[in-house]
Amino acid sequence: MDSLILAPLNLGFFTQDGSRKRARVETTRSLKKVKVSTFGAAVEHEINIDVEDLCARNILTPVEPLERPRFTKQSMLTGYKMSEVLGTGKTCTVRKAVDLCTRQTVAIKIMNRYCESSMEDMFTHAEREAQLLSELDHPNIVKFIRQIETPTKVYTVLEYVQGTDLQTYVTRNPRETKKLFKQLASTLDYCHTQGVAHRDVKPQNLLVDTQGNLKIVDFGMSVRYHGQKINTSCGTPSYASPEAIMGRNYNGPELDSWSVGVVLFQMTTSTLPFANVSDTLQGQWNNQASQLCKETRELVQGLLCMEPTLRMTLRQAAAAAWCR
Ligand SMILES: Nc1ncnc2c1ncn2[C@@H]1O[C@H](COP(=O)(O)OP(=O)(O)OP(=O)(O)O)[C@@H](O)[C@H]1O
Ligand SMILES: [Mg+2]
Repeated sequence: MDSLILAPLNLGFFTQDGSRKRARVETTRSLKKVKVSTFGAAVEHEINIDVEDLCARNILTPVEPLERPRFTKQSMLTGYKMSEVLGTGKTCTVRKAVDLCTRQTVAIKIMNRYCESSMEDMFTHAEREAQLLSELDHPNIVKFIRQIETPTKVYTVLEYVQGTDLQTYVTRNPRETKKLFKQLASTLDYCHTQGVAHRDVKPQNLLVDTQGNLKIVDFGMSVRYHGQKINTSCGTPSYASPEAIMGRNYNGPELDSWSVGVVLFQMTTSTLPFANVSDTLQGQWNNQASQLCKETRELVQGLLCMEPTLRMTLRQAAAAAWCR
């Protein structure tokens, strides 16, 4: 070993052939055992080094851990050890994984670029999701870490959210409903101030972590709106607004308001407000609506307003007296 550089947790060093390797400090205090790992493969080396002494004698220099680019092209995915499936969707599988460099647990959304029924490259969808997510910075939105493109797949590395989906959580913890609703409304309001509409708000995309806080995932349908009207039909039928179902022009935020209204109805009655698309188009709530107390009913009514321009905004919903 020619030289050794010390970071708080990671060591980088040059081998005699000039290649750079990376090592991780495994123990604390002055005597350290290090595990040398290159991308993909880890080789255990037990080296006892008196770090404080070597630093004092200027033999080791503290440096920042190596930065890896956020968007990369590779021939195959390396550097992560995959484990169980966390969820599957229409176009992807999400797996738990460990970053072999940092030991951080992450979630990796894996998408096949091509499918038999379409010649379209799904990379553009995954890239748009990653771009939007990387521009958002909010404690209740899952953090984007990096995206790796290979010839056949796209891997989107995300913060791992340990927990459960919103509906399961509030069924077990009904007293948390107001807190989580407020987090949902104010986080989506933050997205709207950044010009981003989520467009697929539903409990499966709303996770609750082990601290009982909301994390919004799945920005695969999100869009950046610039004032021009959009008319792409999108969302999940039970949660989609009448104008989204009909493919009428819309701005973006009002779609999220509607879906949040459906989620609120579901959280408070354990049923969906609309039995089918035809009921959604007529604004016909199911008979469980009679269970709603006056304040909840008023809030649901504001969010499930049939006229998009008169619909309650999520800023208004987050400030509603019901949330206090
Ligand atoms: N960061 C994460 N941590 C833990 N679980 C996650 C995370 N991201 C997603 N999941 C789980 O994986 C499921 C599927 O992920 P996601 O919703 O992003 O994919 P999808 O519905 O297929 O998306 P799309 O429709 O955009 O392809 C989620 O419903 C959730 O249960
Ligand atoms: Mg999803």
